[in-house]
Amino acid sequence: MWDQRYSEAGFAYGTEPNDFLRSEYARIPKGGRVLCLAEGEGRNAVFLAKHGYVVTAVDQSSVGLAKARRLASDHGVEISAIVADLADYDLGHDCWDGIVSISAHVPPGLRKKLHNQVGHALTVGGCLILEAYTERQLETEGIGGPPPSSAELFMSLSGLQSELVTLDFMIGRERVRNVSEGKHHQGESAVVQVLACRG
Ligand SMILES: C[S@@+](CC[C@H](N)C(=O)[O-])C[C@H]1O[C@@H](n2cnc3c(N)ncnc32)[C@H](O)[C@@H]1O
Repeated sequence: MWDQRYSEAGFAYGTEPNDFLRSEYARIPKGGRVLCLAEGEGRNAVFLAKHGYVVTAVDQSSVGLAKARRLASDHGVEISAIVADLADYDLGHDCWDGIVSISAHVPPGLRKKLHNQVGHALTVGGCLILEAYTERQLETEGIGGPPPSSAELFMSLSGLQSELVTLDFMIGRERVRNVSEGKHHQGESAVVQVLACRG
């Protein structure tokens, strides 16, 4: 499904970073190492690299990450792009100053496992920046997010608070906002936003 989507002309979610990441990225220690989970075609990774971070992007789609590498090259920056299923990817310990998760909707079992790893994969002072669709998206006019048949993939603030217990939440909110990210994320959309750091 994702390789097919990324085989289309252009960038599925555009080449500009996610708005929440753009507003909060400076909370990640300057010049630090950042891991972008489920990064697709690289818009967020390239933005961070342009701002001086050392960025690794992980996604299962080789087609998406090939475009991410080209986008980085077009912008004169380097990123490390790793094709991997997040189910098999070890986030490590004390090694990321930032972890970015934008619309990284994976099955609940994997999500909980990943979020458990985030707590110790971040360095002390390192931050997670996450935005994802909530189930309320099914009631909005917006385009984007998991289909109704996969409602278990949506996230919620209460769910994230319970999965990220070791982190200090600086921002944790559910809101409806206008999204304009390529042709696949558009319009009034219901999201959860988290900025949470390791104390
Ligand atoms: C909606 S896209 C978001 C892409 C990117 N984060 C962005 O904001 O532009 C979701 C991404 O999750 C990736 N993905 C889904 N399940 C995955 C898994 N188990 N392992 C790695 N990547 C996965 C897909 O390949 C896809 O690129």
